[in-house]
Amino acid sequence: MDKWIIPQDWNQYAPSEHAMWDTLFARQVAMLSGRAAPAFLEGIDVLRMSKPGIPDFDELSERLHKATGWSVVAVPGLIPDEVFFENLANRRFVAGRFIRTPEQIDYLREPDVFHDVFGHAPLLVHPVFADYMQAYGQGGLRSMQYGSIQRLARLYWYTVEFGLIRDGDGLKLYGAGIVSSSSESRYALESDSPNRLGFDLKRIMRTKYRIDDFQQDYFVIDSFEQLLRETLETDFGPLYSELESLPEIEISTILPTDRVLTHGTQVYASRQR
Ligand code: PHE
Ligand code: FE
Repeated sequence: MDKWIIPQDWNQYAPSEHAMWDTLFARQVAMLSGRAAPAFLEGIDVLRMSKPGIPDFDELSERLHKATGWSVVAVPGLIPDEVFFENLANRRFVAGRFIRTPEQIDYLREPDVFHDVFGHAPLLVHPVFADYMQAYGQGGLRSMQYGSIQRLARLYWYTVEFGLIRDGDGLKLYGAGIVSSSSESRYALESDSPNRLGFDLKRIMRTKYRIDDFQQDYFVIDSFEQLLRETLETDFGPLYSELESLPEIEISTILPTDRVLTHGTQVYASRQR
């Protein structure tokens, strides 16, 4: 698994690359106050991420390691699923080292260091979320034996990348794909368009997702404890077999069994077609 890991070469970043980080960082921190889960904002503090420039992974890992035993390592881009899972199972988060160009400031397809580090690292400071990510890695290795990676990937998508969490009477953001995107940070919480549904493990593993635009469905957890408990308590083996015989659920569908927090208008998605 180590052969995929590359040096970050922090000294090789150009001043313009550090400046791009600073621009993105300032914009997101302003956007996220009052919108991101308190645990996420706390993680930014603990990791001292307000220090200017692209974080040095060694420095970041030292802080992270003190908090929860996690570290961040660089990889060249997309890596095999097994390597990804194995790293998570060993409490190592793999991150891209490159940063987007000014033309890509609002949208890019492959995750860059801003998405990977700003989006994912802060919550790894939270002990329960940290355990969830490790358990996910272990579950990922197991899912390979069942040929069910795709189903488990949906769980990652709808929690780690695009999850919402209840906070008193309101909702907050915690998914890395949302918190690293200025436009989706607003849309995910404030738009009338998407559905917002209560977290439902089995349902999520049947639900398709879109990778090319704002989500049409978000799933809301009550707490990180709930997320960890439900996924740890469930033996996914029999679940994968059961899911084989159940149909997939199309994007934006609402089922009678859903706990509906927002029944979205889906206006945004229909305008994009
Ligand atoms: N309990 C899961 C299994 O039996 C493992 C898992 C834990 C998966 C947490 C995802 C998240 O495979
Ligand atoms: Fe991500």
